[in-house]
Amino acid sequence: MLIAPSLLSCDFSKFGSEIQRMDLAGADYMHLDVMDGHFVPNITFGAPVIKYVRPFTDKVFDVHLMISDPLRYIDDFCDAGADIITFHIESDSDPVSTIEKIKSRGVKAGLVLKPNTPAHAVYEYLEMLDMVLVMTVEPGFGGQSFMADMLPKIRELKNEITARGLDVLIEADGGIGENNISLCAEAGVDVAVAGTAVFKADDPAVAIAKLKNEN
Ligand code: DX5
Ligand code: ZN
Repeated sequence: MLIAPSLLSCDFSKFGSEIQRMDLAGADYMHLDVMDGHFVPNITFGAPVIKYVRPFTDKVFDVHLMISDPLRYIDDFCDAGADIITFHIESDSDPVSTIEKIKSRGVKAGLVLKPNTPAHAVYEYLEMLDMVLVMTVEPGFGGQSFMADMLPKIRELKNEITARGLDVLIEADGGIGENNISLCAEAGVDVAVAGTAVFKADDPAVAIAKLKNEN
């Protein structure tokens, strides 16, 4: 299981050094939550900020776009140094055009499912995707409780990916910690996002190691 700390829970006054701290703590990916205050009721940061923190690590920048019209901004996030860009199937951009745009820039592409969106909503795009992000909370805020009723959806998605012989990663995002990460692993999760569980821990390195060992 790869661990992707969500920087939404970090001290933004030290964004760059927080990314360095996560790198040293053993993070596999840096999960960067972009919110526009329109697609979700919260505003975080955009491509200019990601550009400035890019030099602080060589680890994967896993950019989660919780924005309207993501297609319009793909070039900006690719220029800023994104390695993976995930956008919501519920957003107003055409999925195929957006996936093709991301991949045309040599960046990995993923679709995100809100809790109420069924797994089959992304099936027609699976052959084009590198990753599917299954939200285990309603998008918009860190520190929410894990939605265990998303586990069957993850299992269903894993079965479909396996049945088609695809190597699409499944990432789960929201409320993940020591007490539920083994359930995520059993359901078929490949990458676990953890914000609160890592940043609120006394020692993030210990927290990350525990999350890796729990599954
Ligand atoms: C929520 C974000 C998540 C969140 C995870 O909209 O997409 O990445 O920051 O944070 P925790 O692990 O605290 O739920
Ligand atoms: Zn996220």
